[in-house]
Amino acid sequence: MNKKNINIKHNILEKFICRIYEKYNVPKKYASIISKGLVRADIRGIWSHGVVRVPIYCKRIEKKVANPRPKIKFKKISKNILHIDGDNSLGFVTSTLAMKKCVQIAKKNGVAIAGIYNSNHFGMAANYLEIATKNNCIAWIFTSSSPALPPHGAMAAHFGTAPFAFGAPTANKNKPFILDMACSAVARGKLKFAAKSGKKIPYGLALDKYGKPTNDGAKAFEGIMLPFGGMKGAGISWMMDIIAGIFTGGFHSGNVKNQFGNDFSGPANVGHLIICLKADLFQNKKSFLKKIELGIRKVKKLKKAKNFNEILHPGEPEFRAEQKNLKRGIVIPYEVANDLKALSAKLNIKSPF
Ligand SMILES: NC(=O)c1ccc[n+]([C@@H]2O[C@H](COP(=O)([O-])OP(=O)(O)OC[C@H]3O[C@@H](n4cnc5c(N)ncnc54)[C@H](O)[C@@H]3O)[C@@H](O)[C@H]2O)c1
Repeated sequence: MNKKNINIKHNILEKFICRIYEKYNVPKKYASIISKGLVRADIRGIWSHGVVRVPIYCKRIEKKVANPRPKIKFKKISKNILHIDGDNSLGFVTSTLAMKKCVQIAKKNGVAIAGIYNSNHFGMAANYLEIATKNNCIAWIFTSSSPALPPHGAMAAHFGTAPFAFGAPTANKNKPFILDMACSAVARGKLKFAAKSGKKIPYGLALDKYGKPTNDGAKAFEGIMLPFGGMKGAGISWMMDIIAGIFTGGFHSGNVKNQFGNDFSGPANVGHLIICLKADLFQNKKSFLKKIELGIRKVKKLKKAKNFNEILHPGEPEFRAEQKNLKRGIVIPYEVANDLKALSAKLNIKSPF
C-alpha cells in the first residue's frame, strides 16, 4: 500500500467492519449496530470516533475485558424509567438498544429515562440522538469516560472528555439539531491520531506529562487534555461523572478503565444516562417543528460576525459532511487503513484496503 489516503464507499466499509466484529464472536445483529455506528461517525466527518477505533475496541474483546455476546438486562423501575445492566457490552450496542426502548416509552408516555451501567465506550453520541430525532423525540445522552481532563485547579487527568450531547428534531428529518461536543478542547481520538501519524496539534489543547503546553501529538496524548472554556468545561466533565457514573451505578471518580491505554485489568464499567422526551409533549408536532424552523431561520438572518458568510446550527456541519461523504466515499487515512488491513489479515478476512 502506498502512503495515500483511501477513498471507500460507506456500505463496503460497513460490511468489512461488521465481518471483523463477527470474527470477534459478536453476533451479527450487534456487529451490524457497531459497524453502522462507527461508519456513521466517518460519514458525518467525526473521524476521531469512526473506524479508527476498531483495533482499540477489538483489543478489549481479545483481552476479555469487553463482552462480545452480552445478555443485556432491562429492569423497569416505573413505566418511564429503565435501569439497564449492559453485561459489559460494547457501548454502541447498549446505547442503541437503550435509546430505542426510550423512544418507544417516550412516544407512549411522553418521557423516558434510562440509566445504564456495565457498558463500554459508545463512540459518537450523535448516533443515539439520531434515533430519537428521527422518531420526533428530543434527547440527551450522557456518558462517563476514562480519566483525561483535570478538574479546575488540578494538574492530573481525573474526569473524562465525555460529550455533552443533545438532539432535537427539525422539519428536515435528516438534518436534526445535534449538539454533540466533548468536554475537552479537542476529542481525544484526534490526539491519538496525531500521536500515531507524527502530526502537530495547535497549542492550547493539551499539556505534556510535566504540565507544559505542547503541540506534539504524542506528548499531548501521554499528558493531560485541557477542557474547553476552563472551569466551565471542567465543571461539565465533573457533572458527567455524577450523572452518568455515580447515578447509574457505573465506575466514576477516575475509575473508568482507559480505552486507549494498556489497562486491561478489568471491565471499564462505563455508565450512560438517557433522557428522552416526545417533542410534541406540550403542543402538536406541526407547531413544534414550525417554531424550530422559525428559530433557525431567524438565527441565520442575523448580522454575520467577521469572516462568517453564513450561520449554521449544531449538526449542520456534520450534515454537510454526510452529503459529501455519501456521494464521494469516505476518505480513510493511510495509517488507519493500514491498521485495519493488518487486523483483517490476522483474522483471515478479505480487506477492501
Ligand atoms: N464516547 C466518549 O466518551 C466521547 C468522548 C469525547 C468525545 N466524543 C465524541 O467526539 C465527537 C467529536 O466531539 P468534538 O467536541 O470534537 O466535536 P466538534 O468540536 O467537531 O463539534 C462540536 C459541536 O459543535 C457544532 N459545530 C461545529 N461547527 C459549527 C459551526 N460552524 N456552527 C455551529 N455549530 C458547529 C457541531 O455540530 C457539534 O455539535 C462527538 O461526536 C462526541 O460524541 C465521545
